Amino acid sequence: MLFSEDKISEIIEKNDIVDVISEYMTLKKKGSNYMALCPFHSEKTPSFSVSFSKQIFNCFGCGVGGNVITFIQRIEKISFIEAVKLLAERSGIQLEEDKDPKQLEMAKLRKTLYKLNTEAARFFYSNLNNGDKASQYLKKRGLSDAIIKKFGLGFAPDRWHELIDFMKRKGYGTELLYKAGLIVKGRDKEGYCDKFRNRVMFPIIDLKGNVIAFGGRVIGDSKPKYLNSPDTPVFNKGYNIYGLNFVKKIQNLENIIIVEGYMDTIALHQFGVENAVASLGTAFTENQAKLLKRFSNEIIISYDSDLAGQNATMKGLSILENEGCVVRVLSLPSGRDPDEYIRKEGIEAFREKIKGSVSLIEYKIENLRRNLDINNIQDRIVFTKGFSEILKDVISNVEVDAYIKKYSGIMQVNEAALYAELNRLRNKNKNGNNKHNIINSKKAEVELKKGEITAEIYLLNICIYYYEKVKDIFETLEPTDFSNDMHIKIAEIIQKYSKEDKPVTAGEIIGFFNSDDEKSKVAEIFSYKLPDADIDKLIKSSIERVKHSRLDRRIQEMIIKMEEMYLVGRKEEANAFFVEIKELQKRRRRFPEGRG
Ligand code: GTP
Ligand code: MN
Repeated sequence: MLFSEDKISEIIEKNDIVDVISEYMTLKKKGSNYMALCPFHSEKTPSFSVSFSKQIFNCFGCGVGGNVITFIQRIEKISFIEAVKLLAERSGIQLEEDKDPKQLEMAKLRKTLYKLNTEAARFFYSNLNNGDKASQYLKKRGLSDAIIKKFGLGFAPDRWHELIDFMKRKGYGTELLYKAGLIVKGRDKEGYCDKFRNRVMFPIIDLKGNVIAFGGRVIGDSKPKYLNSPDTPVFNKGYNIYGLNFVKKIQNLENIIIVEGYMDTIALHQFGVENAVASLGTAFTENQAKLLKRFSNEIIISYDSDLAGQNATMKGLSILENEGCVVRVLSLPSGRDPDEYIRKEGIEAFREKIKGSVSLIEYKIENLRRNLDINNIQDRIVFTKGFSEILKDVISNVEVDAYIKKYSGIMQVNEAALYAELNRLRNKNKNGNNKHNIINSKKAEVELKKGEITAEIYLLNICIYYYEKVKDIFETLEPTDFSNDMHIKIAEIIQKYSKEDKPVTAGEIIGFFNSDDEKSKVAEIFSYKLPDADIDKLIKSSIERVKHSRLDRRIQEMIIKMEEMYLVGRKEEANAFFVEIKELQKRRRRFPEGRG
């Protein structure tokens, strides 16, 4: 469900950020801002600043920032949609969905299903009787009574109607049970039977503590090993994480360990590793990554070490990385899952494994290396290419140097060759289409001269503070003259509002960005202080600076293209580029020189 831009703007407008944040903490007025100790990292001197005029917050310490919606998301650890709902309620704004009878009915159905699922979980739990085969099975797997209770495990009897009959007595009909995914069309007089039969039951619980679905494991070896609830009005596979309801409650959570299975999660908890969760077999999704990131930035993946597990690890890694998480991989000896490992080797050994978990980059390199033979030239070439591909997005040169040193030795490839290949790849990519990707913009930023970025940020801030100047600025500049995707997008938003003769606040601009990292970045941009200078002079010099750099970039791109054409022997095209470059350089020299 999505909200209209107007609704979002209204919510931002009616919920003054200073008021809202004051409800959570004490703000002290300092100059034109309010300051406080940052609630998102621990610190002794305040670097968390809130601006009334801009309607944004920003922490100079940890870099977190955004508008009032972002703040609520972060402080309450809830989703964007939930934050919007909360603020709408706070300010008495009616959301479209509140009025829609269909939505109302759906909300009612969900409530009923939560109650029904809780009853079902109680029923399954009550079937675990000491000495029965289900209890015996769980004992044999090493589960304590306490952990069985904590996770609410249970047993679905080996009969066709046991749950249907029980729930009937509780007043729930087959239609509801079917909607809850607990029964399937089958052999009953009404055409239904229990879905889970003769299985150990694992309730799946959401962040609010509702039972939303079940997993059921066979006792023994028949197939399928696990049966899960289908998607229902209260359960959507890709949107939930097993065990997160417990992890959520941990104070000062350092990181989250993600494993594949129910039994893995439970075993780790039993041994005191209480920050473990499971993605539940299905492919790890972007939504699950977002969910995890709300609680911790640092995620440790410990999937099976078989090929399927390795592939799942790689996919999970890149999804988590795209969400801005710091990811590490915990590898176990082949054929062992966390459950087996911790039961056999003990908690200390597992803690050592956590300590020894490796970065994403290292895991990728190790994976690449695994099937290559250093004695084979062809393999060493494959390594050089794959290695550079992996390293090309690493921003820190120190890190790059360290990896090149390490692996040139291991793979017996010349360091210079690794650097050369890496540079070739990076140059090639510079010309490619820029994806809307924070990592790309960050990289671009490092490569550009700082003065240019500052000039652009001045202009963006001027647009917000000196609304009357917006039209002038965009008479001489195009949004695409800016150097990175984020600045371009912000400029486009400002220009769009200006065409409708509307001023726009920084808080509203943040509303156009989706990821937390982007929102923080935008808040940072609008937390810049403008220098004490004549505003028209500042505009003029900033515009010139931006135009210079735009031309410089263009020339740089052409030079690379020209070189590429020379390299592949397309002399004529190379010459054409040469002529164009000369032309651009002439234009560039006509600019007044004051660079900087
Ligand atoms: P145990 O064999 O009881 O130790 O379970 P496990 O968690 O180690 O199982 P495994 O590593 O085989 O699978 C990991 C997770 O994938 C499980 O916890 C399930 O969520 C899921 N899964 C495994 N097998 C099946 C299956 O047959 N069907 C479905 N839908 N999911 C499965
Ligand atoms: Mn297992």
